[in-house]
Amino acid sequence: MARITASVYTSHIPAIGAALDQGKTQEPYWQPVFQGYEFSKTWMQQNKPDVIFLVYNDHATAFDLDFIPTFAIGTAASYAPADEGWGPRPVPTVQGHPELAAHIAHSVIQQDFDLTIVNKMPVDHGLTVPLSLMCGQPPASDFHWPCPVIPLAVNVVQYPVPSGQRCFNLGQAIRRAVETYDDDLNVHIWGTGGMSHQLQGPRAGLINKAFDNAFLDQLIADPAAAARIPHIDYVREAGSEGIELVMWLIARGAMADVAGGKPPRVAHRFYHVPASNTAVGHLILENT
Ligand code: DHB
Ligand code: FE
Repeated sequence: MARITASVYTSHIPAIGAALDQGKTQEPYWQPVFQGYEFSKTWMQQNKPDVIFLVYNDHATAFDLDFIPTFAIGTAASYAPADEGWGPRPVPTVQGHPELAAHIAHSVIQQDFDLTIVNKMPVDHGLTVPLSLMCGQPPASDFHWPCPVIPLAVNVVQYPVPSGQRCFNLGQAIRRAVETYDDDLNVHIWGTGGMSHQLQGPRAGLINKAFDNAFLDQLIADPAAAARIPHIDYVREAGSEGIELVMWLIARGAMADVAGGKPPRVAHRFYHVPASNTAVGHLILENT
């Protein structure tokens, strides 16, 4: 049977992708950000999954106001890096896992979650920047990501957005879906986006270190309580784009302790301000 062995949480700031692609990682501004992911890249090599279930949000790249799915699961064989205005990032095409994705879609929809099934979806910084941070830049001689990825795009851009509670419940349904897949696959689930940031209006540039760190503490120790945070609190405390944090609750809901198992081990925790307009937050939790 397939099993979720770990969850990863990370911000997905587009300027991080640009810094990587333009060789700026050692510049004084960026060095402390990338330093926080050195452990993670080694950890990824030592704990290589067979598949990553990657929760992210599309930023009006694959979807626009014509069509706004709340939860869209990718069941395609591959996903091209999107052109976000400066050309596609020079990173590998993302390979999918259509069989496991179709199984998860079937199981989760039967558990009463209305997923949208998507077979064509260019993927933006929300998905490619976390892959770059965790896996490094693949060399030209071996130009592929380490494993297939199943994208789950969550609408946190256009209101109404899903609640943290619904995201947490969806994570639990995803864990049950993975555990009813016959093949022995080691699956990671990643939640991306956050932490506090606001990109527009009079509060543009808002960062709330106290909220962010309290959220990290609660996500680790009492995720059911974190799931009860109403969306208005994210917006007030963490800024309009801080609502991206509800995606972290999908990954956290898929961990074993939520279904009565043992608490996860915190393999890594990192927080840094600033990077572009946001606070960078990052966690790795392992099922024990
Ligand atoms: C920034 C952060 C994001 O999460 C995003 O999607 C776009 C921009 C920023 O910090 O600039
Ligand atoms: Fe974002």
